[in-house]
Amino acid sequence: MAAGHPDGTAPCHHRNACEALDHGGYRKVKSLSEESFGDLLRVLRRQEGLSQEDLAAASGSSVRTIRELERCRVMAPQRRTVQTVADALRLAGDQRDRFVSLAEMNRFIGSDARAARAFLTTHQSGPGTRPARIPRQLPAALPDLIGRRRELSAIRRLAVLANGRTDHHTPLVVVHGPPGVGKTSLAVAGAYQVSSRFSDGQLFADLRGSSINGPATAADVLAQLLRSLAVPDTEIPPPGTAREGLFRTLVRDRRFLIVLDDAFDEAQVRPLLPATSQSMVLVTCRPPLSGLDAAGRIRLDTLSHEDARQMLAGLVGPRHAAADPDALDSLIRLCGRWPLALRIVGNRLASSPTWDTRDLLDRLGGRNGLLTALTAGDLDLRATFTMSYRQLAAPVATVFRSAAAIPGPDFDAALAAAAAGLAPADTAAACDDLVDVGLLQYHNGRYAFNDLVRLFAAECLDAAERDRRAADEGGCVSPRRPRIAVGAVGGPVAVGSG
Ligand SMILES: Nc1ncnc2c1ncn2[C@@H]1O[C@H](COP(=O)(O)OP(=O)(O)OP(=O)(O)O)[C@@H](O)[C@H]1O
Ligand SMILES: [Mg+2]
Repeated sequence: MAAGHPDGTAPCHHRNACEALDHGGYRKVKSLSEESFGDLLRVLRRQEGLSQEDLAAASGSSVRTIRELERCRVMAPQRRTVQTVADALRLAGDQRDRFVSLAEMNRFIGSDARAARAFLTTHQSGPGTRPARIPRQLPAALPDLIGRRRELSAIRRLAVLANGRTDHHTPLVVVHGPPGVGKTSLAVAGAYQVSSRFSDGQLFADLRGSSINGPATAADVLAQLLRSLAVPDTEIPPPGTAREGLFRTLVRDRRFLIVLDDAFDEAQVRPLLPATSQSMVLVTCRPPLSGLDAAGRIRLDTLSHEDARQMLAGLVGPRHAAADPDALDSLIRLCGRWPLALRIVGNRLASSPTWDTRDLLDRLGGRNGLLTALTAGDLDLRATFTMSYRQLAAPVATVFRSAAAIPGPDFDAALAAAAAGLAPADTAAACDDLVDVGLLQYHNGRYAFNDLVRLFAAECLDAAERDRRAADEGGCVSPRRPRIAVGAVGGPVAVGSG
């Protein structure tokens, strides 16, 4: 089979094409591989000392197929053909991956193959090439992440699974939960713990799902990811399947850890998922995105009282913490063990050296005005809640704010329906939506607010009341606020509108 080929190049029995790529023939192959899959195929065939007929016979293809492949007349070579040709060329390991990838690039992107080749050139390693630029985009991790041991160990476990897989499904871990509860902090900390398993790099994208300016489009995020993979702007295909295809091609059979932070919905995430078994994707989001096929789901909640105390004590320092443990516990209760709120009060105390814990407690002023007081620099609990509230569908927002008027620690769907003036079935669905985005908690058939969320819901109710009054004065009729009274037996009951 290894007879001389028509160009008269001497057969090369003592080394296969892989060795040629790695050693003497590398530069030649590299420069030609920048041209096309066909050129690469021709170089490898000749280095194996094969004629087109030899390669056709060895791979079970027709001579015409080999010829057309080398002439780049086949833009989408069959996967089976590429594999059998790679076998016949005795390609293995990285070199084989590279050969298959280049064929795949033709398959996926056709005329955008130049972009893929640019990537291949950048990421090739070997004598005479610059080392590949490996993206390492994780933002800084918190130096003081508290608790979350169970969740971190789940992420580590899933990363081990990711590395052991051989199918074409990328393990996906969804971290979801209420606003400001620590999803991003956990995902970043977890990503650092497993990053060494993903040797081709770590990609990070902010999907802006809870941004005031609206979520990023999947196409924009893909463009950003492609740039991170060294694809120049001019080579990024237009939005759509070509762009997705290029991304999947470039990450295929590689080990990337991809963190998609603050996702909005499933449709935004799906185009960003590779189809490779060696990578892993960590998604953070407020709603659970239950339409995604996740290998792991982590629902984050507020911290335990112990963890909250450790967090606050760490932020304010041992002197403050030890001086007035009762005040510290009151702060923790006021913050509802909510990480963002704890971070805010901790930062405020730490940056006001003349205050002690009791001073801060006084300044927070009990429940009235608490949300206004809970800001520190650009950390703002109300603003964080507001984004979630604005994204609620109208009936869900109605149920949310009207439930703030229900006295008592919790309520059922019937009572929420009476408070909202909506049908029970619609209200039950709305309550479940609120649980999904972390604005309500559910236990044993009853719903409950976290204290801080209830304060926020009450503010929303007051604002809606003001709007209603303004609309009434302007001649518009709008639904009235329900009055809820505490019944003699059996807790609160709705008593009508007023
Ligand atoms: N386990 C933790 N230990 C210490 N600080 C934490 C922890 N979790 C969160 N924080 C702090 O709480 C704040 C909010 O955290 P983070 O931004 O991760 O929340 P999030 O759930 O991603 O919020 P969003 O829903 O707005 O995206 C941050 O300032 C962070 O420092
Ligand atoms: Mg976040």
